[in-house]
Amino acid sequence: MRKGTGNPNAASRATTECGVTQELTPDATGLARAADLLRQGQLVAFPTETVYGLGGDARSDTAVARIFEAKDRPRFNPLIVHVPDTAAARRIALFDDRAERVAAAFWPGPLTLVLPLRPDAGLSPLVTAGLDSVALRVPAHPVARALLTAFGGPVAAPSANPSGRVSPTRARHVIDGLSGRIAAVVDGGACAVGVESTILGLVGGAALLRPGGIPAEALEDCLGHPLATGGSAERPNAPGQLASHYAPASAVRLNALARQQGEFWLGFGPDATDADLNLSPSADMVEAAANLFHYLRQADTAASGRPIAVSPIPEHGLGRAINDRLRRAAAPRP
Ligand code: TXA
Ligand code: MG
Repeated sequence: MRKGTGNPNAASRATTECGVTQELTPDATGLARAADLLRQGQLVAFPTETVYGLGGDARSDTAVARIFEAKDRPRFNPLIVHVPDTAAARRIALFDDRAERVAAAFWPGPLTLVLPLRPDAGLSPLVTAGLDSVALRVPAHPVARALLTAFGGPVAAPSANPSGRVSPTRARHVIDGLSGRIAAVVDGGACAVGVESTILGLVGGAALLRPGGIPAEALEDCLGHPLATGGSAERPNAPGQLASHYAPASAVRLNALARQQGEFWLGFGPDATDADLNLSPSADMVEAAANLFHYLRQADTAASGRPIAVSPIPEHGLGRAINDRLRRAAAPRP
């Protein structure tokens, strides 16, 4: 890792730059290396049958924060969690009869299920963006399956491209977009499907949240009824989801340089020495993002109705996603 010097983005650049991105072969040696990197909280791109995914340990706040940083995503939208089989998925989410039926019919394969999150699933809240549902997928690609088995834990993986660019279907595309920003890519050749997985919401009524590799008609045949299409993956509308977005009960005041009387202060950076909690005393964006959901929740409990003041966060890199979330927390609620 290189350190930036004399640069306003130094803190976030220092954690972004991994030096050279390793290109790994999909054999035992390459997969063992890839699994090791995931265990260290590093990012590894890998092939699935749909597109290449940018993988990180879904239980690690830091690894998930790095995914958003590497992609330069302007907001923390929820990510798909990849597991090797349905048994592993059942340890993370609650399966009803519908979920069992579609999982038996289409997993492994290009289908993602959005299901109620088990409270003891152990995922980073950044993966679900604070929702109480989770998107799960069992990929069919042999390299993806081998990596998930070697790693032995859930892997969060959006498509392995910078935000706003097309999804990669070759290791070369991943290198073109993310070289130097991720630890490694496992080269498994071209992706067969080439479009993302279909996302089926099963929190409440069955809903098609994103069209993809499995046709909606095939899901309707399996479930025996038509799918609603009202929800979208960007704006989940299933009951109970929006309310759990970690919007604090307390009023939130942004860009606070000091605490006003009676406030709880959620600080950022070395100047906020007096803060009740500090997202990152060293102004490290990855650390701040990793702490964000935990600290918002803790602040809300500790404030017990008092207003929460939040330090300014620089509007660059991961700071954009952090500020997006803070602005929502501060927005007037109906
Ligand atoms: O084919 C794919 O699915 C690829 C490969 C790499 O597996 N992955 C992928 O992941 O497309 P990602 O993280 O980019 O997909 C995220 C989508 C978003 O549109 C997000 O809103 C939706 O999944 N999603 C995730 N969790 C959700 C939830 N709890 N409720 C509703 N939508 C959710
Ligand atoms: Mg994508």
